[in-house]
Amino acid sequence: MTEFDGNDRFWAVVPAAGVGKRMGADVPKQYLQVLGKPVLQHTLERLLEVDAFAGVVVALGAEDGYWPDLPCAAYPKIRVAPGGKERADSVLSALLSLEDVAAPDDWVLVHDAARLCITGGDVRKLIDRLRNDPVGGILALPVTDTLKSTEMGEIVETVDRSRIWRALTPQMFHYGMLRHALIDAAERKLIVTDEASALELQGLRPKIVEGRPDNIKITRPEDLPLAAFYLERQCYE
Ligand code: CTP
Ligand code: MG
Repeated sequence: MTEFDGNDRFWAVVPAAGVGKRMGADVPKQYLQVLGKPVLQHTLERLLEVDAFAGVVVALGAEDGYWPDLPCAAYPKIRVAPGGKERADSVLSALLSLEDVAAPDDWVLVHDAARLCITGGDVRKLIDRLRNDPVGGILALPVTDTLKSTEMGEIVETVDRSRIWRALTPQMFHYGMLRHALIDAAERKLIVTDEASALELQGLRPKIVEGRPDNIKITRPEDLPLAAFYLERQCYE
């Protein structure tokens, strides 16, 4: 018996095919070391803390020579798929690689490789809140700063913050619905920067589940010590 017994089946998809331009390092940011371990290894270990997953698909860049050296490359639950030009292309490629094993109603949790501080607790919270939802949804954070809308560097108005959330990952949707939404967005040449926006374009309304503020996406060099700080602190919870 696992903590998620029932008829539902869950897959994780981890887009890890970016080059990390804003990080400006000589290796893609998912292979930078944090506390002596590559970012992607941290991320996958955190996801695998959750028993629910039948398998995890990692989308990798075509030039990626680092993956085979990661311990997780040999884990039986983990498989790889070729990444694509944009993040959405990488996610779709990973979904298509599951075609023979995933059913339309299976759940897929898409999680950025660069979010290494994800906790098992937040993944379980997302699953528990959404597993009976017809659409699915995402981890997100309310904004705390006052928000300004601008034109040419000048403030036009203050935006009502109470309705604005920052989208995090994982983002959890049904395999069939998500695949259809991503294919449709690609065919219509619409840019989707996360899975929820693809579902929104289908006229659907994904749910928001409040996540932890330490689920940061490492983007720039100053994010690395911050991630190390959060990872260490989480160990004492
Ligand atoms: N990603 C991907 N395929 C792409 C682009 C991005 O799988 N074609 C992945 C990244 O590896 C990352 C996640 O999507 O784990 C979020 O993207 P982002 O933080 O923008 O990473 P990069 O695109 O690598 O960084 P940058 O935009 O600074 O180049
Ligand atoms: Mg990017």
